[in-house]
Amino acid sequence: MRKSFDEVLKYTEYAMGTIAAKTLEGAEKEKFINETRSNFDNHINPGFLEYRKSAGDDDMAMEWTANGDTFTDLNGDTYIDCLGGFGAFNCGHRHPKIVETVTNQLAKQPLSSAELIDANRSLLARILADVTPGDLQYTFFTSSGTEAVECALKMATLATGRHYYVAFKGDFHGKTHGALSLTSKAVFREPFLPLLQGTRFAPFGDLEYLKKLIDIMEFTGELPAAIVYEPIQGEGGVNIPPDDFIPGIREICDKYDIMMVADEVQAGMGRTGYLFATDYSNVAPDILCLGKSISGSVVPLSACVCTERAYKGMFPNPLLHSTTTGGNPLATSAGIAAFNVILSEDLCGKAQKSGAMFMDGLEKLHKKYPKLLTTYRGRGLLIAMEFCDGDLGYEVVYEAFNRKVLLSGSLINAKTIRIEPPLNITEEHIKKALDVLDESMAIVYKKHFA
Ligand SMILES: Cc1ncc(COP(=O)(O)O)c(C=O)c1O
Repeated sequence: MRKSFDEVLKYTEYAMGTIAAKTLEGAEKEKFINETRSNFDNHINPGFLEYRKSAGDDDMAMEWTANGDTFTDLNGDTYIDCLGGFGAFNCGHRHPKIVETVTNQLAKQPLSSAELIDANRSLLARILADVTPGDLQYTFFTSSGTEAVECALKMATLATGRHYYVAFKGDFHGKTHGALSLTSKAVFREPFLPLLQGTRFAPFGDLEYLKKLIDIMEFTGELPAAIVYEPIQGEGGVNIPPDDFIPGIREICDKYDIMMVADEVQAGMGRTGYLFATDYSNVAPDILCLGKSISGSVVPLSACVCTERAYKGMFPNPLLHSTTTGGNPLATSAGIAAFNVILSEDLCGKAQKSGAMFMDGLEKLHKKYPKLLTTYRGRGLLIAMEFCDGDLGYEVVYEAFNRKVLLSGSLINAKTIRIEPPLNITEEHIKKALDVLDESMAIVYKKHFA
């Protein structure tokens, strides 16, 4: 309900004071926690605190500071971050080089007029052209992953003049209307159907099915503008396709002049041990969607990187697609520094090495608790543990949270819990996280199987 502006002003001062505070203690801390709980219930979503399954006994553990591969809550408890913001923290929390670059830009101009020429956008677009495979050359910057996918769909339609799209069962591409049309799980789609008409789904990894589907779509005059794929499905539960799948998509796209759209919002930026997950297959897409960690884990940013063929529909009128704040100077400064950090610190190599350590540990846990941890899989530091049952997986997450290791599930596959830490996670923290998983699984195993 509307309050007087004086009251609101006072409240902004209180809020700004909490932001400035290094720490909160005693009654001040209690008030802040209660205030936050009440604001979530009354102004964010009363279902939110209930719905979350990853928190342990302290359901009001509040994020306060973060550093490297850990974050510390308001009570001063430090957690190992094995969730990594669902792929947003590849560079770790507050990487000093990225923070310094962003601070330098903040001191000059955080947002631009969008009318004069802003250099950072062009510098990062050049870096993207130099670092991505094939002929990817032009970038449209946005702020979230779903917006990068929206842009990709529009570019594919502009380039081909077609209006249908193909994606895969288990895919997650975002939740705005266009991207949601390609997100595969009913629970997110049903309340909003019908979405984009003529979207088809194929089984992930089944090249023969895909060939037949496209053949039929050609026969019926409904060839798609794009085949949109995740090189490894993240929210689907870290599903890795057979080696011939992605080269096969390339062949089909070449044959029928379809835009090949790689959604690497989650799997890109070094996560899988390759700078881009599609690099593993040695083929280049026509459009590459990036998000999450292109932010340098500091300022939200996403990108739709296109070949000239995919993008040239935008040349005559560059405002055919636009966003006021996408690719702003602050976010792009973070993106520039993110590439510097990923390349100079060999975060791809680190993802491979640390991924192998986790996989060794999981093999032991799988042997120890076979009925609980039924399987595990991953590439680099995009790893999933698959449990016999989704609820038991979350019991393990709950126990791990109580032991100060953060993990979470996936949006599309209820049985899987992901391990997706910052790529610079230390060896010591990997060992500690595996020990905590062992303790947590022992408790859940004893409760349900002993
Ligand atoms: C592969 C993929 N694409 C798109 C998105 C949507 O990104 P955002 O949540 O930033 O809109 C996600 C988010 O998890 C994702 O994993």
